[in-house]
Amino acid sequence: MLGREVRLRWRACTLRLLALCLAVLLCTHLSTELRRKSWPPAGLLVKVRDPGIEVPSKRVEEVPSKRQVIYVRRSSSRGVNNGGQGSNSAVHRRDPRKPVRWHLDLQPWASASHSLNDEAARFLNFISTSQISCTHLVKNGVIAQSEDTVKPWTICLDDKFNLVHQIRNKQCRVYSLGLGEDDNIFEISMANGGCEVHRFDPSIASAHIHEGDRLWHHRLSIDWRDPNPAIATHRSHSNTKKLGTILNEFGHWKIDVLKADMESAEWKILENLILEGVIEQIGQLVLEIHLHWPGFEVGGNDSSVVRYWYSLFKELERKDFKLFYTHKDLSKPQMFLKKEIFNASSCYTLSWVNTRWT
Ligand SMILES: *[C@@H]1O[C@H](CO)[C@@H](O)[C@H](O)[C@H]1NC(C)=O
Ligand SMILES: *[C@@H]1O[C@H](CO)[C@@H](O)[C@H](O)[C@H]1NC(C)=O
Repeated sequence: MLGREVRLRWRACTLRLLALCLAVLLCTHLSTELRRKSWPPAGLLVKVRDPGIEVPSKRVEEVPSKRQVIYVRRSSSRGVNNGGQGSNSAVHRRDPRKPVRWHLDLQPWASASHSLNDEAARFLNFISTSQISCTHLVKNGVIAQSEDTVKPWTICLDDKFNLVHQIRNKQCRVYSLGLGEDDNIFEISMANGGCEVHRFDPSIASAHIHEGDRLWHHRLSIDWRDPNPAIATHRSHSNTKKLGTILNEFGHWKIDVLKADMESAEWKILENLILEGVIEQIGQLVLEIHLHWPGFEVGGNDSSVVRYWYSLFKELERKDFKLFYTHKDLSKPQMFLKKEIFNASSCYTLSWVNTRWT
């Protein structure tokens, strides 16, 4: 009898002890949990970014948008530089904190007389002389074409430049700016060759058309300024954007080839790319230039116009863009600023390679 009572009491005692232990455990767990919640882990930053990002760590400093929230661990140094993507790491990312320039530095006059003769001679000499040799010039895209009808849009596939490696690794991106009057031979060929091709053409029927695997058409045209929000947006004007704006919106930070035929808007567009530093995001630049008149919003007398054109190209040179191909179009009127002078054509096709990007 007594033995049984002792056993029962002993059992009750053990149970109470167990309950107490459990309670203590629960309490400590709760308090640590509470502490963790009130202290956010150190070094976490909230960044808001665009969708469609290639390598997240690269775009940390971009303009915020509402669409996606990503946590980025802050690192001790600047940390968000060019990591990853192998051969791309040589590309210098535009520093968004760098102040935007407002004015182009004009080159000194070609001569004390400021004459058109001297300005034109200097300019025409520049656009007819390659600055760097290219042994593997490719016209009209990487897939062979018949050469007779098409324009000599020319890229350089020498091993010393990055483009050929980007194509091989299927990491190349082509932007093509036009006004819808051109054939698409270059674009289709680059897409078939493995590049992601974005063609900007304000004349197409819908906002975005995806053709084949790698060719996109966008109903957008490139301008040197964003539309003024104060002006009631005319429908066609709202499809006009700066290249830098499009790059940000698409989440792209580099263009391996930029091809542009902007029918005399090229001067102001080029100026905008230089002033905003967007030019540094471009690997090869293939440009058709028009010389029969000064171009949109280019003012001054003839000598000042030619000096301005020349200054733009000298800015490219300063950014280590080297001219590797020049083509004088003999099928177009042979006119220079409305005159038949200097044996010049009204139209040239020029190709540069960004030698900082090798
Ligand atoms: C053109 O204008 C500039 C000033 O803008 C002047 O210095 C130059 O002499 C003018 N050239 C000619 C040929 O009139
Ligand atoms: C004019 O340009 C054409 C084509 O570049 C060239 O063949 C010709 O020799 C030039 N004429 C003169 C007088 O320089």
